[in-house]
Formats: sequence, C-alpha cells, structure tokens
Amino acid sequence: MSRKIYIFDTTLRDGEQSPGFSMTLGQKLRVARALSDLKVDIIEAGFPAASPGDFNAVRAVASEIKGPVIAGLCRTIPADIESTIRALEPAEKSRIHTFIATSPIHRKQKLNMSPDEVISHAVNAVKLARGSCDDVEFSAEDAIRTERQYLAEVLQAVIEAGATTVNIPDTVGYSTPSEMHGLFHWLSTTVPGIENVRVSTHCHNDLGLAVANSLAAVEGGATQIECALNGIGERAGNCALEEVVMALRTRADHYEAEVGVDTTRLTAASNLLAAVTGNFVPRNKAIVGENAFAHEAGIHQHGMLASPETYEIMKPQDVGLRNSQLILGKHSGRHAVVDRAKDMGYVLEDSEVEVIMERFKDLADVKKRVFDSDLEAIITGYEIGTNGPWSLNWLSVVSCVNGETEPAVSLTLAHEDGTTSTHTGEGDGPVDAMVQALELVTGSEIEVLSLAMRSISLGEDAQGEATMRATVDGREYSGTGLSTDIVAACADALLEIINRATRSANQAEQNGVVGAHA
Ligand code: KIV
Ligand code: ZN
Repeated sequence: MSRKIYIFDTTLRDGEQSPGFSMTLGQKLRVARALSDLKVDIIEAGFPAASPGDFNAVRAVASEIKGPVIAGLCRTIPADIESTIRALEPAEKSRIHTFIATSPIHRKQKLNMSPDEVISHAVNAVKLARGSCDDVEFSAEDAIRTERQYLAEVLQAVIEAGATTVNIPDTVGYSTPSEMHGLFHWLSTTVPGIENVRVSTHCHNDLGLAVANSLAAVEGGATQIECALNGIGERAGNCALEEVVMALRTRADHYEAEVGVDTTRLTAASNLLAAVTGNFVPRNKAIVGENAFAHEAGIHQHGMLASPETYEIMKPQDVGLRNSQLILGKHSGRHAVVDRAKDMGYVLEDSEVEVIMERFKDLADVKKRVFDSDLEAIITGYEIGTNGPWSLNWLSVVSCVNGETEPAVSLTLAHEDGTTSTHTGEGDGPVDAMVQALELVTGSEIEVLSLAMRSISLGEDAQGEATMRATVDGREYSGTGLSTDIVAACADALLEIINRATRSANQAEQNGVVGAHA
C-alpha cells in the first residue's frame, strides 16, 4: 500500500536566503503562484522576523495563495513566533515552523545553552505557537550531528508540547543514505508519540547527496520532504524538488509512495525561478536541464525512433515538455536526419540521403549543433555560412542609460547585387535598435527569440560569441557571431539569420527542393 509523502517547498525561504537568489516581493509572489499550480502541499514563504521585507512577503503570499498550507519560519524566541503569527494571519491554512539547534557544537558554540535549556526553549516555543495555530512544525537544527538519544528526547518533548510535524534536518549536508535510513527508522520506531505526527526530512547538498538522503529518509519512515525548486538553498542548496518528486513517481514500485505534485508544471516552475533570479540551470541537470530529454548519439537516436522506452525512463510530457529532442550533431545517424527532414516536410529518396549525409557530417564537424534551418539549407542545396546576400559595411551604436537619448544603431549593408542601404533604428537597447535598423534595410519582420552571450577566451581582447535564435517573417533561424566587440558579435549573428532567411525565401521561389515536399 502506498503512503502519501507531503512536499514542503522552501524555495522562498531556504532558497531565497542564499547568495544570488534574493527576490523582490513581486517575484516571490510569481514563484508562489507557480508553486501553487504545482500543487505542493506546503509553501514556506519566508522568515517574517528576519526583516520587514520578509514579513511583508510572507503576509502577501498568505493573503493571495489558497490551496497549499503557508508556513513561516521562526526561532524559538517569543517575538519571532508572534511576528510569524501576524504574518500568517490572512492565510487560508497556516503553519508555524519553529527551530532551535540541538547538536553539541551548536549548543556550545552558538547558543551557549545546556541540553535541558534547549529542550525547554523548544517546548515553550511549540506551546506558544500552538496557542494560535493547530499546525506547528518543530525543527531540530543540525539534527544529524546530534546525539541520537538526546535527539529522541527533544522530539518526544516537542510532540508532547503539541508539535504536529517534527523535522530532522541535515543542516550541513553531512549524512549518507544508509545513515539517514537507519536514523529515520530508529526514530520512527523509538520516539513515543511519533506515529501521530508527520516526520520530515530537510537535506542540504554539501556532498551532493541531498536527494539521495531525502529518499533514504522516506525509506526509513519520513512522510514529508523539504525541498526547493532547482535545488536552491544555503551553500550547495537543498534537495531538488523536481528530482525527488520524479524519483518517487518514476520508482513508485520501489518507494511505494505517492506525491500530490502536478509534475507537468515542473519545467514551467523551474524556468520561472531561473528567469526571476537570473540563475540558469546547467543543461545536464536532471529533470529540468536542457539535455534531460535530448539525445544526440546516433545509436540512442535510432533507439529513440524505434521506441522512446529504449533510452527514456520518464516521458517528457510528464514534466511539462512537449517532446523529447533529437539533437542533430556530429553523432547523429541517417535515421535521425531522415526523420527530422520528414518532420520538416521533406521526404528524401535513398539516393539523396547519401549526398545529404555527407554534407551534414561536414557541417556537424565544424558546428556543434545542426539546427533545422541548417538541415533545410543542406536539403535545399544552399551554401552554408555567413556569406551573402547581405554583408555589413558599417555600424555605429549609441547606448544610453538614464539619459535623454534613445539607444540607436545606424548601419550600412551591402547587397550582392551591388547596392548598399543605410538605416537607423531606435529601441530599448542596442540589440532592439539593431533589429529595427535591419528590418528597415531588408523589409523583413524580425523577432528575436533568444540571445546567449559567452566569452570564449580570456583577457582584455577576449572574443565574445553571440548565439541568437529569431524568426524572420514567421520562420525560425539561428545565427552565431564572434567578435571582440559584443555588439558587433550580435550584428554578425543577426546577419547570418537574415542571410539564411533571404536565401531560403529566394530558393523557395525558384522551386529547388530535392525529394517531394510533403
Ligand atoms: O537547514 C536547516 O536546518 C534549516 C532549518 C531551519 C529547517 O533550514
Ligand atoms: Zn536548511
């Protein structure tokens, strides 16, 4: 029989308090809405006594978000608890989460308290909190480095005082899966009254074990997991929500547990957090990284085309993606190329495939990723590269911050027919202005979808690479530009896009596709 595991999200508290992840009130509300759409059971909205900003954010989340329980964190100090009670007043369902450190090192070095004093602070805090709220969680900070017998005594005392959830954090990310399993099993079968409360795990990722340790705690008897989107949190972060939830769901046969999270919202929630905080997840990150459902190796692509189960243990749709991506690159084989061409509307004859594959491999050797527009160019017989019909003769950029002048770009493009045209565009910034100038020169409608910049060498004269995706008259293209001047790199990337689009439109006019265009 499967048990319900409660998902307690701490993105807005443990996550937000870590360097580089602070959010404004508006941003916290957007993330809280995404968490509510995700149907997490509890949202820890902040630490109200930490600052007036935190207080207001918890109150705003408590006022707006209905569905999940809204929790506020507080020390065992009465003033902290009272401020949390006030911040949570508007909540439909609220939880007071109070904590004190229990390990010998924290008792001695940080709190300067005896073991009995720590218990008495914990008990008084829980009693005070229970006076105003039926749902009270107690956390024994640094529980993992606490003497087992003493930890059991603390938990028994707070349960008797009225705690409804007891949390056993691995505050410093020190534990191991077998230790977690053993500890949770021992506590769950030893502490009097623990069977009547929720038992929670809260793992930090200092040794990269937060998800594994949380899952081991579940195997040992935990019924609540504290976690954060994209694994954000103090230092190396917390247990990653998306990973632990998908592990429980994908291996339900093993964990015999259920979660109420709507996993189809995971990608959207992760993207939102990344965009709001400006911290993008690595492409190889489990579940939500760009490569999580992408396949490039030829053998893998062949397997995926035969049956996705050959190389995928989860469906991309389960995490909110439309499809797996077969990335075309130097490892791709003919199956993947022919299949992608078919999706694009080109049914290739066997005789054509040989020629196309040869050109595809040549291109893939020099270009890491072959986009659909590259493949189309090969199929339709265009030359690949940045040459013609347009080239950049001259570019002048005016950028302006907090001033009277609008950012503007003037440029002269030369066309292979011998003519030149000069135009000036204005916009919110230089790239926007450049797009406008290029639209005026070429008469096309351009919309930039993404722009990624990176430095590909070191030092003062480092080269910047701009990779852009944009639609030109509704069709999507990619382009790359390289220069020591980042604005010039963007101009080159856009020019490559425009040249591809122009060639594609010309070729379409003159028929020129090989194979039947379905
Ligand atoms: O890591 C920790 O111990 C905490 C507690 C306050 C729950 O974040
Ligand atoms: Zn923590």
